[in-house]
Amino acid sequence: MNEQRTDGITIALSKGRIFEETMPLLKAAGIEAIDDPETSRKLILDTNRDDVKLVIIRATDVPTYVQYGAADLGVTGKDVLMEHGGDGLYELLDLNIARCKLMTAGFADKPLPEGQLKVATKFVNCTRRYFAEQGKQIEVIKLYGSMELAPIVGLADIIVDVVQTGSTLKANGLVPLEHMADISSRMIVNKASMKMKHERLTVLLDQVNEAVEARRNSE
Ligand code: ATP
Ligand code: PRP
Repeated sequence: MNEQRTDGITIALSKGRIFEETMPLLKAAGIEAIDDPETSRKLILDTNRDDVKLVIIRATDVPTYVQYGAADLGVTGKDVLMEHGGDGLYELLDLNIARCKLMTAGFADKPLPEGQLKVATKFVNCTRRYFAEQGKQIEVIKLYGSMELAPIVGLADIIVDVVQTGSTLKANGLVPLEHMADISSRMIVNKASMKMKHERLTVLLDQVNEAVEARRNSE
């Protein structure tokens, strides 16, 4: 167990869309951030509740913090979760936020090579699994962002990335090709925390779930 574990509840979030879309749901559970991560340099944010803290980390690090118990709860995209593998944590709620699709993308009018396909992505594990299931040989080129550039400069034949409006692909002369998975953000919980803080976490999760359902019904 992690030595940092406290009696309080620590929630791991990333800046940007996850923070902005999660906070209204946490508000329904009576949790409001005191600082704004866009203006504060603090990595641990206090909330209106003495027993609840937020840790602000990179989106791809959220499952790792929850896995090792450095955070009890976290909010992360299903893409990040599929890539991480889910060890040490439970995926409890689909928050129905930050919705997008994991897709392959490339040029509309360029035939793909006969031999091994070069695929640029930050989703290395998802990509390997997807093409292995299809029995296709690929070379994965790991990137950390701006995947759309890779086919343009000849680094890869296609990319695997999340697509929402499709405007980033379009702006770079690419089109979506194959749909790999529907993505939304999930509330995840550390397995040990779920046992040790069961009652408090269950109350919080029920309140967040009610807010998710209320929003879904009003859509
Ligand atoms: P990192 O900074 O660690 O590389 P990131 O840039 O992917 O992560 P965000 O852009 O905040 O972090 O994305 C967080 C999550 O939101 C993603 O994991 C994905 O599930 C979802 N997401 C990403 N891009 C979009 C988008 N354009 N529209 C809707 N949801 C998105
Ligand atoms: C993500 C993703 C794509 C883009 C897709 O990037 O890596 O580049 O969003 O969204 P679209 O289909 O609506 O164009 P990132 O999160 O870095 O960029 P964003 O914050 O501008 O969406």
